[in-house]
Order: sequence, then structure tokens, then C-alpha cells
Amino acid sequence: MVDTAPAGAASGAMLPSVDVVPAVWGRVASIVVDRGEGSWLITTSGERYLDYSSGIGVANTGHAHPRVAAAVAAQAVKLLHGQQNIVYHEPGLRLHHRLQGLLPGGPWGAFLSNSGAEAVEAAVKLARVATKRPVIIAFRGGFHGRTAQTMALTSAKNIYRGDFEPLPGSVYFADYPYCYRAPGSAHDPAACSAGCASCDGCTCDWEGRLEELFHTLVYPEHVAAFIVEPVLGEGGYVVPPIGFLPRLREIADRHGILLIADEVQTGFGRTGRFFAVEHSGVEPDILTFAKGVASGLPLSGIIAKQEILRHWRPSAHGGTYGGNVVACAAANATIDVITDEGLVANAAARGTQLLDGLRGLKARHRSIGDARGLGLMVALEFVKPNEGDGRVPNTDVTKRVVAEALERRLIVLTAGSSVQVMRIIPPLVTTPDEVDLALGILAESLEAAGA
Ligand SMILES: Cc1ncc(COP(=O)(O)O)c(C=O)c1O
Repeated sequence: MVDTAPAGAASGAMLPSVDVVPAVWGRVASIVVDRGEGSWLITTSGERYLDYSSGIGVANTGHAHPRVAAAVAAQAVKLLHGQQNIVYHEPGLRLHHRLQGLLPGGPWGAFLSNSGAEAVEAAVKLARVATKRPVIIAFRGGFHGRTAQTMALTSAKNIYRGDFEPLPGSVYFADYPYCYRAPGSAHDPAACSAGCASCDGCTCDWEGRLEELFHTLVYPEHVAAFIVEPVLGEGGYVVPPIGFLPRLREIADRHGILLIADEVQTGFGRTGRFFAVEHSGVEPDILTFAKGVASGLPLSGIIAKQEILRHWRPSAHGGTYGGNVVACAAANATIDVITDEGLVANAAARGTQLLDGLRGLKARHRSIGDARGLGLMVALEFVKPNEGDGRVPNTDVTKRVVAEALERRLIVLTAGSSVQVMRIIPPLVTTPDEVDLALGILAESLEAAGA
């Protein structure tokens, strides 16, 4: 069946009903978009939405950045597909070379794939081959994708894996230092500089729990890798204490375990550094990236130490589309834009502006338990202040605030295991005026939602 096209539809043609899209795509908004410009999405009826989801952290350079769009168009008329096993192409060679220099330390090499989950699959396959060990330790609250292996590594929410058992084995979970939800009481991760274990007043004790894991469930010498998000994404935009990753690096080194930093959501300027590991100066062995790398074209990959990458023999891993030539052209243009327009610094500055504003809102609304973030990965966690210890997750209020914001044409998302977190992921090109506009809309939305 076809429906009448919405008034003002760009093409004027009849559009099929939205029912053609299966309900498995859990839906945030039911608008039909026609185009994007910077931080804005414009519907087929001409309504403008401030997109502070960035299409789940993808549109870091803003929607349809002219330089990225031009690079895609120029490449598309020359070659759409140059398969990696068969030929080399210029955009791919340039991108591989640039990826070697994006992260301090190294020497690094890169492998290209299509989605975040595929990058994580590659990282796990490489870690197992390089160490000849079977076990992977992931962190509670983590999200790593929707393929069988990456579901097995994911613990952000039951919906991501609950219907799909059995899942691949030899995966164990360690505690992530979630300071707001620490046993006993919440504390400020910023007060901790040395990792939770040695921090006065910090009750996260992730390190003690990890030792327990080594004593009760798995020998450390059987562990190939830790996989960790430098800031938990789907798990609720949880920023760990600055000492967490350095301490994890030490533990990994002590046991010959590799460290995989999953930067699919935190990478490409999102947190106010090009990669989030740079905040603590930790060098991972393997880093996964996707989302922001190509401004919306499907591209992902890993950056790995050259000595580790060498363990893959030719044809041990690959894929038909990995390193697609048009996606590589988009990625090269994306890196140019991030650099030339100072988007990493803008993410840091706009992130501070946004978080300051959210802290002001927290002071006025008791159902906001926590306001937190790093760069432009920012969140509010909602609670029931009069129940339990005051930190009972408040799913209803979270959903209402997000819905009220959408009514006011601001797109934000939820996160967290109980859907108790509202996450805000603006494009890195966002302006001070747009941040003020969003804060004004959120203030109204909190009132309207009775938060
Ligand atoms: C940290 C992290 N890893 C992996 C993934 C999976 O990426 P994709 O959806 O592109 O497979 C995501 C997606 O949100 C993510 O946030």
C-alpha cells in the first residue's frame, strides 16, 4: 500500500507507508527526513529538528558536510568498489597511511571493515591469534555490537542478547567503575586520580572484583584481551575515574593480556580528544573505530600495533566490502574537516558549555541524579529521589523527557541498563547558540515531563 506523500515532500511522489520498515528497528522518532545541514535534520514537510543524537554518534562533521559530500560525489563517478583482496585504490592507501598517525605511540597499522561490530570481531580474532589464548574479558555495562561474538561481549541491556542464546563462550565480565552507582553511595569520579582501588572513599573496587575473577573463574594466563570502552556508551555514558585505564593497562601487562579500546562511539573527536584513550595517555594494543570516521558512510576498522597485526596470515581475515573506496574518500574528507575546522577543540568547549548547563538543571530537578560527560558525550541520569537510597532508576521520567524534547524538535537518546539515562550526542560542529537552544528546550521538557 502507498500513503499520500506528506505535504511539501521533496520529490512530490507517493511514499510507501512507514509500516514497510520492520518493528525490530526500535524507534526514536517517526519523522521522515529529507536532508540534513550541520546539526539539523529537515523533514519532508520542512520541519527542522536539532539532531543531538548525530545518528548515534556518527555525524561528527554535521549532516552532509559540503566537503565530505563533494569527496563522496567525486569518488562515486570514478569507482564505487575496488575490492581489497584484488586491487589497491588511492583513497584506501591514503586512509591506511593516515590512520597510522592518528594515535600517539605505535608503530600502528590499520585494518578496514564496515560496521562497529565487525571492527570488534576483527579485534577479538586478532587478539586470539596473536596471544594464542582463548578468553576475552569485557566490562559490565559494555556494548560491542549485535553479531554473535559481539553480543557475547555485551552486557549493557538484556534486549541486546537475551533472545539469542547460545552465544560464543570464553567471555567473562569484569566490573566497570560506575561511580554514581557504586555500592553504598555515589562519588565523583573526578576526585579519583589513581584508579578506584587506591582511592579514598571510592567503593567501586573494580580491581578487587577482577582479582576475584582471576581466582574463581579464569586463569589470567588464558586471557587474550580486555575489551573496554573508555567511556561507557549504550551502558549510560559512564565516565570512569582518570586512573582506571592506566591501572587496567598495568594489570594487562602483568599478565601478558592485550588491551582493546573500543572507540566505536568515543573516537574521532567525540570526547574532546581525537581518541578518548588520549585523556589518560594509555596506549591500547588494538583500538576499534567506526561511527564518526566517515561522516555516515559505512566504514570501520581497527588500529593495532604492527607487531600484533603481523600475526594475521594473508586471508586469515577480510571481507568483500571492507575499506570501500567511496567510504575511504568520505573518511579522508572527514579527517580533513575535523582537523581544519578544529572540531576536537570545539567538542571540548561545547561539551563544557553543555555540561555546565545540565548541572544547572540538576540543581533544580531532584529526579536528576547525575549530570556527567566527556566532550560531547553528555548525559543526565534520572532517579526516584524518594525511593530506596535515592538512586532508584527512573525509566518513566527519562522516556518522558526525551519525548517532550522531541515534541520541541530536539532529538536526544536514551541509554543505560534500565533506560534511566538521557544521552546527548551533538555533532562536533555544533555552535554555542545551538547548545543554548538545546538547554532551553531541555529545561522546558523537564518541566513538561514533571521531572
Ligand atoms: C562502543 C561500541 N562498540 C560497537 C558498536 C557496534 O557498532 P555497529 O552498530 O556499527 O555495529 C557500538 C554501537 O553503538 C558501540 O557504541
